[in-house]
Amino acid sequence: MQMIEANGARIPALGLGTWQLNDRVGARIVEQALRLGYRHIDAALIYGNEKEVGEGLHASGVRREDIFVTTKVPHTELTPPALERAVKQSLANLRLTDVNLLLIHWPNPQIPLAETIGAMCKMKKEGYARHIGVSNFTVALVEEAVKLSSEPIVTNQIEWHPYLDESLVQAACKKHGIAVTAYCPIARGRAVGDELLTRIGAKYGKTAGQVSLRWLIQKGAIVIPRTSKVERLTENMTIFDFELLREDMAEIDRLAKPAGRVVKVGWAPAWD
Ligand SMILES: NC(=O)c1ccc[n+]([C@@H]2O[C@H](COP(=O)([O-])OP(=O)(O)OC[C@H]3O[C@@H](n4cnc5c(N)ncnc54)[C@H](OP(=O)(O)O)[C@@H]3O)[C@@H](O)[C@H]2O)c1
Repeated sequence: MQMIEANGARIPALGLGTWQLNDRVGARIVEQALRLGYRHIDAALIYGNEKEVGEGLHASGVRREDIFVTTKVPHTELTPPALERAVKQSLANLRLTDVNLLLIHWPNPQIPLAETIGAMCKMKKEGYARHIGVSNFTVALVEEAVKLSSEPIVTNQIEWHPYLDESLVQAACKKHGIAVTAYCPIARGRAVGDELLTRIGAKYGKTAGQVSLRWLIQKGAIVIPRTSKVERLTENMTIFDFELLREDMAEIDRLAKPAGRVVKVGWAPAWD
């Protein structure tokens, strides 16, 4: 597994997204993914399925120290006491004593970031999280978080796929040694039917989805595709045995549009 190093963390470049993987499907897909060689699982308290994710982790037979587990604190739980409660709830759900990475799921302008970052650092210092990071942070928020944090921030998890240009956020992260984790890396399935990605994929014997994931990997991102189908787990992980040519990367770059987001969240702050 290719690893991304960021401010002291070693993060597998491919992880499994778990949003909407509920009930038995969640447990089964997590278990199967780990058996197939996935070593990074992306969870969140707000997904409501951490218990199932935990079941899959424990059923896989893969040793805890070989799995990189991320979870996230919801935007509603960012005051220090709420954050601490949320983290303990996540660990109980997952049946783990710590996570590898704890993220602020979304920024919340109603709660001072200094307080939230302070609580995140405390969680790290007390051993509940080996590393901390952020998600859905703009350039300005990344700069603010870095200034406020006594502990290194290792990733900013953001929406990223060929229909979005995230070069500004990526540059801001890079300046501080922060890795970018790309969520919705196949644009919630949109990339799978894309004509250009399909045409480029045919040259390499790859699917459009694999091209989307590979394009992100070559940009230096960590990718966390989700599937509820066991047979697609292998497809989504077979992205390290080919390399897109520079001209193909450039052609894919041209798919980005200002309105290219697939995630629309009414309450989220404006993006820069
Ligand atoms: N931090 C945040 O705010 C945030 C926001 C959104 C997501 N995330 C994380 O990022 C993960 C990934 O994002 P996402 O789940 O929204 O979208 P995604 O991974 O881009 O796309 C998932 C969709 O693509 C389909 N799919 C997956 N592999 C496929 C394949 N090989 N061929 C055809 N279809 C395929 C899946 O359907 P099937 O199940 O039918 O395969 C599913 O409908 C999430 O699960 C979550 O862990 C984080």
